[in-house]
Amino acid sequence: MSSSCRSFRQYVAAIRKAGWLTTVSDAVNPHLELAAQIQQGSEQPLWFSQVQGASYPVAAGLCSRRELLALGLGVPAERLLFALSDALQKRSPPRVWEGDKPAPCQEVIEEHVDLQTLPILTHLPADGGPYVTAGVMIVNDPEVGRNMAFHRLLRLDSSRFTARLIEGRGTYTALQRAGGQLEMAICIGNSPAVLLAAAMSPEPGVDEMSIANALTPTPLVRCRTVALEVPATAEIVLEGHITPQMVDEGPFLDLTETMDVVRRQPVIEIRCITHRREACYQALLPGGLEHKSLMGLPREPTIYQAVNQVCECLNVALTPGGGSWLHAVVQIRKRSGDDGRRAIEAAFKGHGSLKHVLVVDEDINIYDVVQLEWALATRFQADSDLMVWPEQPGSSLDPSGHHVPGLKSRTAKMGLDATIPWFKPDGTLRSAGERAAFRKVRYSTE
Ligand SMILES: Cc1cc2nc3c(=O)[nH]c(=O)nc-3n(C[C@H](O)[C@H](O)[C@H](O)COP(=O)(O)O)c2cc1C
Repeated sequence: MSSSCRSFRQYVAAIRKAGWLTTVSDAVNPHLELAAQIQQGSEQPLWFSQVQGASYPVAAGLCSRRELLALGLGVPAERLLFALSDALQKRSPPRVWEGDKPAPCQEVIEEHVDLQTLPILTHLPADGGPYVTAGVMIVNDPEVGRNMAFHRLLRLDSSRFTARLIEGRGTYTALQRAGGQLEMAICIGNSPAVLLAAAMSPEPGVDEMSIANALTPTPLVRCRTVALEVPATAEIVLEGHITPQMVDEGPFLDLTETMDVVRRQPVIEIRCITHRREACYQALLPGGLEHKSLMGLPREPTIYQAVNQVCECLNVALTPGGGSWLHAVVQIRKRSGDDGRRAIEAAFKGHGSLKHVLVVDEDINIYDVVQLEWALATRFQADSDLMVWPEQPGSSLDPSGHHVPGLKSRTAKMGLDATIPWFKPDGTLRSAGERAAFRKVRYSTE
């Protein structure tokens, strides 16, 4: 397997070398046309060398498949969960860029800010306007330190955005603790390690940058106008601050492919833009495959670790039908009759936004929906293997949840234990031979 990609540029080069990148050389309009072309191309990696009205090329679809991110981290696709899980545990603080040469992301400094020069896409006619979708925001929480997270950014004019800050998450709480005004930097065009680490929500006080650095060496550099550090190889960095002024944010397509509502969100003022020479802009389709994979992949290790504390967990997949966010399949090696139930309870602890979880045995391929349904059909009884909890704290992304402005969303949660039942209906234990009768019979010549 190749080594990991230390920058967005190396990542694009690796995808090109693998033969997965298609170049579009006709000039494309960032207003609706670019997003439509990404979708028509089934979100496979695309390089738009000419974008109307902008001096930056645009790369899209770079995170749309597990195999692409695995290539970026230099691990086989089936080991991605374990690479993320290791990095979560073996965090390492990144070094700070030193020396006379400017860091790549500061090769060009633009103190006269004009956000109109960036090829920011308007994705759908109903959108509130042009949105940055692959921007990673870095802030410093006065109590717990650095936070790094994705925030969609609606461009308001040539120097201002508004951002969606989900209540209770790192950026939101940092802003509250700072009294409603906070310095920030937005990085666009990040390495796969930074993209995946930014989508994680470790415990408060855990620096996501140290997770990125454990995945791939990620040197940082001090910003020019704010007291923050950003990945030195980012393509574009927007420095500024979150202000107390509130404006309408939305509508915008969200993870569940339904339209998110308009909310009052804070204005962000940009004071300085720095970028690499010949910088590239990253586009990401909201509600698309790469939105889903970036959201879901970093939660698989947290579910895995939580389940592994109560029984032997073999694998976890957040499935695309559930937006790679609301539905998980957990594979376990069952060693006692109650392991399936224990795994369900632990999975919900491992990912707070999880709504439904299905637990299966080691003989079921968790990526094959037919096998999952077969397990449910042959090993599951709703009166004994179903667990339901009403009115739980849940995801703000689920349109069927109960949403009250300013309060945590509420949802019902459901776990289905589709592992081989160790107990008979009368409560007695099935023998190993009786349990083996639940396995699929294979044709054989012997
Ligand atoms: C592509 C993408 C877009 C996202 N957009 C937003 C957003 O607009 N607002 C937000 O609060 N979270 C957004 N998220 C989720 C956060 O990045 C994610 O929950 C992150 O883990 C939050 O980290 P924190 O809990 O440390 O703040 C997005 C995630 C991805 C992958």
